[in-house]
Amino acid sequence: MTGVEAEPAPGAPLTAEALGPGLDTAWLGRALHWLERTDSTMRVASELAGRGAPHGTAVIAEEQSAGRGRLGRSFHSPPHANLYVSVVLRPTPPGLLAPTLVLAAGVAVAETVAGWLGAPERVDLKWPNDVRIDGKKTSGILVELASDAVRPLFAVLGIGVNLNVDPASFPDEFRERATSLAAASGASVDRIAFTRRLFGTLERVLDLHGTLGFAALRPRFEAWFRMRGQAVRVLEPAGRTLEGVVRGVDPDGALRLACRDGGELRVLAGEVTLLREARA
Ligand code: BTN
Repeated sequence: MTGVEAEPAPGAPLTAEALGPGLDTAWLGRALHWLERTDSTMRVASELAGRGAPHGTAVIAEEQSAGRGRLGRSFHSPPHANLYVSVVLRPTPPGLLAPTLVLAAGVAVAETVAGWLGAPERVDLKWPNDVRIDGKKTSGILVELASDAVRPLFAVLGIGVNLNVDPASFPDEFRERATSLAAASGASVDRIAFTRRLFGTLERVLDLHGTLGFAALRPRFEAWFRMRGQAVRVLEPAGRTLEGVVRGVDPDGALRLACRDGGELRVLAGEVTLLREARA
């Protein structure tokens, strides 16, 4: 024994034992469940929360067979390459489980990805939940709320980050539109070090969001939000398709669009496709 603890190898599993020693958080990931394989960490975290798991409980899987994305989509989750994590959130009061939570989490992911890459100009946030490098999706964020008849009980915040996956291995529909941090940086990513950094930043961001609201994060969000002036098409969950030019994001997280008829629309949820540049 030398008294000096060896760091785990970069490809080592993202277990509590590997992450714990350098983890700079008070509550996030202090209870951590690691799974070699599951259908979705969202399901596991939600079940744990239903049985009373505390605020900040994290579930990490090395592989997901049915990774969930927004609007019923799937999230491609190959083994041992990336980060797939879901976190149980029980803010007090529960009203703090606002729709802006996903935007707040996006700030934390964008900052961590940009810090790792060392090139913030290559990183942006596509409303509401994609963190991109060079315009290609690198991370997706999902919030699922559990409520009783009158109020939200808890949220599960899910984050998937493509770290070491080779984009050539993506299914056809994603190959041109997605990348990984390793592909973008040209070097493999130490998943343990990345996850520790993300947890630290995410905890600080969520604490700010919980105490002061999205307004406190607005300047940091704006640094990554480069959609203003962009022409977009939005497919809303109910099936309505909208087109307009992005004006910005409202304090409640809605995307504000200028329409051709001179009016404005607020979009609360939907799949956004970027059209030609329209920055006039
Ligand atoms: C999206 O891009 O639409 C959101 C993707 C969210 C993926 C993460 S991976 C960890 C957690 N478990 C899931 O099944 N989904 C989220």
